[in-house]
Amino acid sequence: MAYSEKVIEHYENPRNVGSFGKEDEDVGTGMVGAPACGDVMRLQIKVSADGIIEDAKFKTYGCGSAIASSSLVTEWVKGKTLSEALDIKNTEIAEELALPPVKIHCSILAEDAIKAAVADYRAKHGSTTETETAIC
Ligand code: FES
Ligand code: FES
Repeated sequence: MAYSEKVIEHYENPRNVGSFGKEDEDVGTGMVGAPACGDVMRLQIKVSADGIIEDAKFKTYGCGSAIASSSLVTEWVKGKTLSEALDIKNTEIAEELALPPVKIHCSILAEDAIKAAVADYRAKHGSTTETETAIC
């Protein structure tokens, strides 16, 4: 499997690795898994009182493309509103990282992780939410 330069760059210098307190009021946690390959991604957002994502962190037990996808989206969501974050498409991630077809599901994992994190945050704050369980 040939990885693109951008995948390798994120893989070697992942942005925003780590975690926030799962119970923190201003944190949303999304945990998603890919049954086919067993990879797991946890993505967390920290949201300001006015609904802006001010920080994001991830931990991914997975392939290089999954790590690069989660690293990339933690950068992309910062400064976005929750609904803007929900607009991030796996196709944009796949395009940015030049993922080959066999690695597209790794970017889907990242999109699903954001959606799950937003859903978790909204659930904590009492708004109605669609639960996302996705994958392949
Ligand atoms: Fe890995 Fe689909 S989840 S192949
Ligand atoms: Fe399954 Fe990348 S190979 S997430």
